[in-house]
Amino acid sequence: MKILGSFAQIITLNHLSLKGAIKDNALEIIENGGVLIENDLILEVGNFEALVKKYPKVLVDEVTKPSVLLPSFVDCHTHTCFAGSRANDFAARNAGKTYLEIAAAGGGIWSSVQKTRACSSENLYNLTLDRVNQFVKEGIKTIEIKSGYGLDLENELKMLRVIQRVKANTNANIISTCLAAHIKPKGFEGTNSDYLNWILNELLPLIKTEALSHRVDIFIEKSAFDIAESKLYLQKVKDLGFDITVHADQFTAGSATLAVELGALSADHLEASTEKEIEVLANSETVAVVLPGASIGLGEPFAPARKLLDAGACLAIASDYNPGSAPMGDLLTQAAILATYQKLSTAEVLAGLTFRASKALNINNIGKIIPNYKPDLQVYACDDYREILYHQGKLKPYKTV
Ligand code: NIG
Ligand code: FE
Repeated sequence: MKILGSFAQIITLNHLSLKGAIKDNALEIIENGGVLIENDLILEVGNFEALVKKYPKVLVDEVTKPSVLLPSFVDCHTHTCFAGSRANDFAARNAGKTYLEIAAAGGGIWSSVQKTRACSSENLYNLTLDRVNQFVKEGIKTIEIKSGYGLDLENELKMLRVIQRVKANTNANIISTCLAAHIKPKGFEGTNSDYLNWILNELLPLIKTEALSHRVDIFIEKSAFDIAESKLYLQKVKDLGFDITVHADQFTAGSATLAVELGALSADHLEASTEKEIEVLANSETVAVVLPGASIGLGEPFAPARKLLDAGACLAIASDYNPGSAPMGDLLTQAAILATYQKLSTAEVLAGLTFRASKALNINNIGKIIPNYKPDLQVYACDDYREILYHQGKLKPYKTV
């Protein structure tokens, strides 16, 4: 057992709604706060002096400078397991080619597949672990990581096993997702539907047996899979007992409604979503995950985060860290920039980086500083929580718990 404190402010994120807009004055702020922790659980949160008085024998882990305490962030959408660079795609886009044109010409995702296939498990493990450790340093303690650069039996399993090995060797909470339905790989003989059936019949049973993942994602887009074939696939994936999530409405609107129809945990991207998809998401339990890193990486408009919140959606913000569209991988910077362009309150951003992102991963005890939640915490050297987004990602936590 120990008491942490005292903090100038503890931003608990208690009492905030799971869906819809949030004003900053709804935030619960405990000034001169302390937290009592035992056995990987938060027991009590309150005034620091009062806690020390109430538990005189408990060790105090003293904070010596003015600090703000936040729950650690949850990055609910990443492609952190990959090899190689796509700096050539970056240069080609800036010279006028689009993401979809580069993909059609055989670059894009396919080039990362080739590099990831050529990478040994050992090297892929080291690359992924280093990136995860960097995330943890930046206050991100829960990280979803997708496969999707293997796209054959050997290499999809290689990626998912590497992710499991990283999970076993870090104190981050790692959640893996099978994204074998990223694109149909070159060399696969058959249609898109044949490829999706191959995933269903050959790959997913092995993933189940080895307990490599309980989640499945698909990229619904012109360069990847269409709505009709995705629908058949996701229905069968659900029958196998997997949770589902969708790369939806990135360039073409329409797939977010399929995600909702099928009860997906989340619909992610949404840059191209129209009023119709916004409405459908807002009236559902599917989390709308926006990925400002992909907009910044590709020079595309941001997803309509403000409209989604005003319509009543549960909005989460994730990094989409990947070598193609979002190579920066700095979630706090991306969220702060999104806030300025989409006019999001700090409360909405913090909710989107914590308990609302947990919902996208179906986790219910991470992302608030309240009793019975996990004590995944981060400490910033400032005395006003608004400093954090104001510095647009430059102010990083000086300590994580
Ligand atoms: O979320 N859009 C599809 N998948 C990734 C990009 C992957 C890549 O370009 O390598 C994304 O942006
Ligand atoms: Fe993605």
